[in-house]
Amino acid sequence: MAKFTGKSVLLVIGGGIAAYKCLELIRLLKKEGCGVRVILTRAAEAFVTPLSVASLSGEKVHSDLFSLTDEVEIGHIELSRAADLLVVAPATADLLAKMAGGHAGDLATTALLATDKRVLVAPAMNVRMWTHAATRRNVETLKRDGVAFVGPGDGEMACGEYGPGRMAEPAEILDAIAAMLAGGDKPLAGRKILITAGPTREPIDPVRFLSNHSSGKQGYALAEAAVALGAETILVSGPVNLAIPPGASMVPVETAEQMLKACEGELPCDIAIFAAAVADWRVASVVAEKIKKSAGKVPSLAMTENPDVLRTIAGLVGRRPRLVVGFAAETEKVIDHARAKLLAKGCDLIVANDVTAAGKVFGGDRNRVHLVSAAGVESWPDMTKREVADRLMRKLAADLAAKAK
Ligand code: CTP
Repeated sequence: MAKFTGKSVLLVIGGGIAAYKCLELIRLLKKEGCGVRVILTRAAEAFVTPLSVASLSGEKVHSDLFSLTDEVEIGHIELSRAADLLVVAPATADLLAKMAGGHAGDLATTALLATDKRVLVAPAMNVRMWTHAATRRNVETLKRDGVAFVGPGDGEMACGEYGPGRMAEPAEILDAIAAMLAGGDKPLAGRKILITAGPTREPIDPVRFLSNHSSGKQGYALAEAAVALGAETILVSGPVNLAIPPGASMVPVETAEQMLKACEGELPCDIAIFAAAVADWRVASVVAEKIKKSAGKVPSLAMTENPDVLRTIAGLVGRRPRLVVGFAAETEKVIDHARAKLLAKGCDLIVANDVTAAGKVFGGDRNRVHLVSAAGVESWPDMTKREVADRLMRKLAADLAAKAK
């Protein structure tokens, strides 16, 4: 039986050059037995004709809010409620702004505001429009409102520029639709995910410690993304100035040894992600009293090696999580070092980031990562830590599902 028999999608086609890809999307949806009703925005009509859309969808195409016959036959409220899912493709900067602002000036925006169903958007626009602060704000708002995103990808654009802003391919949009129609877009429901985050703090005496610059932002963003995809999420975190992501369980720790113990206590789990910046060494013997200053005398600290939390968990027999992911903070030969770390630590994937611009990654909101696994290297464009988290979590959900087959 076709994948989507009995389901229906309301597809809002926005006015962008990528609109032509929607014809293929409609064809793929119909092939899987999905009912497709289409609203064309006025701008979209400049890119695809109502006739070609109607021929492929087998349905009348809707475009005018004030069409009296439509209002009698099927009102705009009914149009959005009758569907199982609303899909906006291409979602232009203008459409995203109108959705984020709650506008309802035409049939497309009215249907999107009137719906009680989930909405999936496939953005497509010039790279500068996508990275503009206004679009960033609108995307964040829509994500908070529960709107799901697929893409955009990186690539050569119709305007001749290169970068993020290219609409996801029809097959990718189809996968996202399948996930949302199947399980309310909760591919990690029933899965347990363990995430380490932040720095560790290794005491010297009761008032002093050794630590590092980790802000915990990437790990916390991962926990938010895991919760959003339905996972039972355990965050084992060193001391940071961040709020606990709603829905995640927090296990606060200070030292590397405590972090290892806390992680072992949370097994078994399906996926473990080690985003913490764990101190490699600790002071060999922590003194019970504060070290006093005495003129001319400089204390020297004897150090000892800390346990490697990632390597220990990845090396477990029987209790090893099915997917073990490490992070690598590198300043040079990023991919080479990440490859070496993948083997040395025994994990399935290393997410490597170049921290040369330490001020930018440590404590910053953006990250540029390379995914290194036995399958090869996948380099992602510069994006926010939350975007890295969302994309990584979706990838891991897919990898886990593939492993289970
Ligand atoms: N890690 C860990 N326990 C440690 C050290 C590191 O779990 N004691 C994990 C980190 O959370 C990260 C990965 O190992 O996922 C890589 O950490 P990194 O500090 O970049 O590498 P190191 O192994 O410390 O190697 P080096 O400092 O030489 O680059």
